[in-house]
Amino acid sequence: MREPLALEMEPGHDGPLFLAIAEAITRDITRGRLKPGARLPGTRALARELGVHRNTVDAAYQELLTQGWLQAEPARGTYVAQDLPQGMMARRPVPAPMDPEAPPAGLAFTDGAPDPKLVPDKALARAFRRALLSPAFRAGADYGDARGTSSLRQALAGYLATDRGVLAEPSRLLITRGSQMALFLAVRAALSPGEVIAVEEPGYPLAWEAFRAAGAEVRGVPVDGGGLRIDELEAALARDPRIRAVYVTPHHQYPTTVTMGAARRLQLLELAQRYGLTLIEDDYDHEYRFEGRPVLPLAARAPEGLPLIYVGSLSKLLSPGIRLGYALAPEPLLTRMAEARAAIDRQGDAPLEAALAELIRDGDLGRHARKARRVYRARRDLLAALLGEHLAGRAAFDLPAGGLALWLRCEGSAEDWAEAAGQAGLALLPGTRFVLKGPAPQAFRLGFAALDEGQIARAVEILARSVPG
Ligand SMILES: Cc1ncc(COP(=O)(O)O)c(C=O)c1O
Repeated sequence: MREPLALEMEPGHDGPLFLAIAEAITRDITRGRLKPGARLPGTRALARELGVHRNTVDAAYQELLTQGWLQAEPARGTYVAQDLPQGMMARRPVPAPMDPEAPPAGLAFTDGAPDPKLVPDKALARAFRRALLSPAFRAGADYGDARGTSSLRQALAGYLATDRGVLAEPSRLLITRGSQMALFLAVRAALSPGEVIAVEEPGYPLAWEAFRAAGAEVRGVPVDGGGLRIDELEAALARDPRIRAVYVTPHHQYPTTVTMGAARRLQLLELAQRYGLTLIEDDYDHEYRFEGRPVLPLAARAPEGLPLIYVGSLSKLLSPGIRLGYALAPEPLLTRMAEARAAIDRQGDAPLEAALAELIRDGDLGRHARKARRVYRARRDLLAALLGEHLAGRAAFDLPAGGLALWLRCEGSAEDWAEAAGQAGLALLPGTRFVLKGPAPQAFRLGFAALDEGQIARAVEILARSVPG
């Protein structure tokens, strides 16, 4: 493309400049001004045109390459991806704890728990003490808003805007005790008893439990290397009109860790619109992206009016023991969720919420996230290197771009392997744990974040000597 791109930047866009540029490009793609296969100007030319630093344009391109909007052709340039669904182009898509059994004594690959040793406990304890002693709490140590403490809803709204590109009105946020409660409330508000929610399979069994407890039936839709199979979802929708909602983990699919690309995201939004579905997006471990920038959630792009309930958690950033999750939902879903919450739990834990608001506002949580990302990235790299060294030919994996777990595919029975490793002191989570009816993938979800370097080395060594048969 020789002529200038003439991007229309959103006036008053707050947040990083490169995201504003990335947004302007996706807007032009979805509007049809930039067609699949169109060549983009080089970073130097676009930087000159926009009067910004070349690195800023480079970061915008990287973001869009990661999300699948663009593709790079070595030595030729950067192009709009070819595989974006045409149907969406004219429209603007705006932007286990597996089981109650205790693991055997010894080592465990969890399903992706963070390292409790990294929790910023002193800062949290100080903030909690301040919240308890604050005049505000003493004066109003009473019942409050079922949606949660206003200071935390405001702090979370700011955090979601800068970290996830999601414009969250604090009034549309509901703080919950972990995202588990948010998942239950979401389906209870969105579905009538007997209606069906489609879920990824393999997927997250605790979400299925929440949905069933809320009165819904759960239907599995297969997942492949690109995340949820949209063609299979469409076939299921055509077969069963009782499917009224879809639950997805697009950032790092649970348990396989893959990221859903731009084309499927658009197809999913289009299907949701066409069938009038509620989407429940679980953005459970977005803080951890080791390659490129985090991919923005569906909630940052969902068309106006689409009932999308965005669910998040602090369990991966802090600790699953600190019960703090949240949901962002449009009206009237949000009010229905808040009413149901008030009926069983009245409200959340006001001093804990105030303390977390302070950690977010003061930047402690951001600093902790940066540190945790460095530590976990090194652990991921070590695990990958050791698996490559000791299990080549017996198991295979794709390096996860983010998240706290690695999906290891194996030859033969993963259950037999897990059994043998368990006897040798290493608890593993085989594919059978993640399916509704099967077939179970011959694979393991290896949550590595809670293991230090020595433990990772020992765990891989046990894994290697437990190979069955
Ligand atoms: C897919 C998924 N969603 C959400 C969560 C967090 O749940 P909670 O916030 O209830 O601790 C987890 C934790 O393991 C998870 O794996």
